Amino acid sequence: MLPADLDGLKVPRHIAIIMDGNGRWAQQRGLPRLQGHYEGRKATRRVVQACVDVKIEALSVYAFSVENWSRPLEEVEGLLELMATALEEELTDLCRNEVRLVVSGRLGEVPEELQQVIQRARRRTAENQGLVLNLLINYGGRAEISDAARAFARRVQAGEIAPEALTEQTLREYLYRPELADPDLVIRPGGEQRISNFLLWEIAYSELVYQDVLWPDYGEEHLLEAIREYSRRQRRYGGVVDTDSEADQAC
Ligand code: FPP
Repeated sequence: MLPADLDGLKVPRHIAIIMDGNGRWAQQRGLPRLQGHYEGRKATRRVVQACVDVKIEALSVYAFSVENWSRPLEEVEGLLELMATALEEELTDLCRNEVRLVVSGRLGEVPEELQQVIQRARRRTAENQGLVLNLLINYGGRAEISDAARAFARRVQAGEIAPEALTEQTLREYLYRPELADPDLVIRPGGEQRISNFLLWEIAYSELVYQDVLWPDYGEEHLLEAIREYSRRQRRYGGVVDTDSEADQAC
């Protein structure tokens, strides 16, 4: 059920989150960085639950970027292990909440064990009808666009399509998750204000909300605050605002 104060507000269909601040959260407490990621996992759980409660259609979360391999080996291994454990432990709850797991990224490059856990979780949740949880693992926005371009180029080379067939609409079909609508709202907690190679194609017209809270401290109230902020924005998509229809949409 929607919290009473969201009732009647324009709620985003697809929210995308750059989960940031785990390392600083740990450093501030004199703890190893991995401890921040363990706490970050709990925040992810809270936010998935809040999205289920608010009936968001899709949630994309940036769990591991193509750039994250450059972190110390212990942190990289710990993070990848944490994701495998979390997915296994959360699977029952994901199913109970009707959450369907999908994944974006170069999965062939992550450890075999994690690939298998992901495969199992995808299969087990495939028929679920609720929130679509899009986990970005070994993901980069530029990598995604170049993977799409390469896949398209291969079909051109094979003589299956003409180079002229390449348009924004056709290239989009080669992205990792073409079936998902573009995010309406991008949230970046952690106090930094940048995009960090996140869903570069898909967020062309998304609303951005930056929040000054470290990810392990993030909870339902922060998500609701971001949704309220979104509901006050007027989306223009490069055009002008039709104030009547905007008002209609808000009703
Ligand atoms: C960024 O914080 C966070 C990450 C690179 C990892 C995010 C992963 C999780 C929260 C685990 C989620 C688990 C599942 C199953 C989705 P940072 O380390 O860059 O923080 P800093 O900017 O303070 O250093």
